[in-house]
Amino acid sequence: MMKKDYNGKKVLVRVDFNVPLDKDHNITDDTRMVAALPTIRNLLDDNAAVILMSHLGRPQKKKKEDGSIDTEKFTLYHLVDHLSELLDQPVDFAHDVVGEEAKRKSAELPAGQVLLLENTRFEPGEEKGDSNLARRLAELGDFYINDAFGTAHRAHASTAVIAQYFDKEHKGFGFLMGKELGFADRVKENPEKPYTAVVGGAKVSDKIGLLENLLGKCDNILVGGGMAYTFYKALGGEIGDSLVEMDKLDLAKEILDKATQKNTRILLPQDSVVADSFSNEANTQTAASDQIPDGWMGLDIGPKAIAKFSDVIKSSKTVMWNGPMGVFEMEKFAQGSIAIAKAMAEATSEGGAFTMVGGGDSVSAINQAGLADSVTFISTGGGAMLEYLEGKNLPGIEAIEGKGV
Ligand code: 3PG
Ligand code: MG
Repeated sequence: MMKKDYNGKKVLVRVDFNVPLDKDHNITDDTRMVAALPTIRNLLDDNAAVILMSHLGRPQKKKKEDGSIDTEKFTLYHLVDHLSELLDQPVDFAHDVVGEEAKRKSAELPAGQVLLLENTRFEPGEEKGDSNLARRLAELGDFYINDAFGTAHRAHASTAVIAQYFDKEHKGFGFLMGKELGFADRVKENPEKPYTAVVGGAKVSDKIGLLENLLGKCDNILVGGGMAYTFYKALGGEIGDSLVEMDKLDLAKEILDKATQKNTRILLPQDSVVADSFSNEANTQTAASDQIPDGWMGLDIGPKAIAKFSDVIKSSKTVMWNGPMGVFEMEKFAQGSIAIAKAMAEATSEGGAFTMVGGGDSVSAINQAGLADSVTFISTGGGAMLEYLEGKNLPGIEAIEGKGV
């Protein structure tokens, strides 16, 4: 974060407090809130008045039957108590984004205090990147700091468009943004070799950009999750009732061919845990991933794949993981992802490797394995990290760096 004179100033900080809540609105994972604390604390230490803004969920897409916004479900008020505890000081709340209350409370906010605005997505202009909304938000603060790495891939009013209303001296990134980009660049720019990427998830189509970008850069790409079966199908394997994208078979072949040309070894899971239904109560057995019987579907990588993948990970100096190896939400199909987490932890502690979990579902998987503290870095960005590693420009970053939105 750039060092500026924040003493007595209003500093508007865009954070990503899009945290999961249970049905009683309790926070079930506060990682993103904790990750934003260094920036907030630093500003408070500098005697700034800190105005926080964030979205929570997708209220415009999940409206109530009468077409109105479900304010009860999506209000950021749910976070106020916990944030006060984390900061060890009271946090005030404005029940609107740029309305009377937000304006008054921002104007009156004393130095050293924190105000949280209502969910930015309650404003229809937020996701449209409306410049009128961005300007009204900008009027609330003297400085704008973007620390919302998890939302940096969105060109929204509060994440990107707003930056144009502050000159270079009055805008910048927070610590979390700096940390995320620094770690991501360690795998993107000059990874220490051998570099292994573990790529999973349901669909090849979600990971094409990532795979293309990793080819030639990685020594190994370990493929797991539902997407592995599209590769096996493309190679002529029998995949039973496993997930497959029939329109991506050529693409899967192409990726395998390119990998050979570019000296990247793609390893598919030799065997799978197969089930006779998509359920934790299903009957299961182990099968070779290219000989899965009809009526059975691969829902996790098998023991041979686990052993092979773990070996490769443990002999790597850089490991990046994006996407689970199986349906880890169901206990029966969580072993593959847990094993990856364990191997990464071992590579870190014993091999001195740089290990990073690239956000999204793989973060839940490593939390489930209880190994979140055993890897070098866990990203708070799902889509944002994926797009950054694909080599895309993120609007939230471009806007601050002055390249427009
Ligand atoms: C996320 O959780 O992916 C970010 O907070 C962005 O939210 P979105 O995917 O709803 O834009
Ligand atoms: Mg998302």
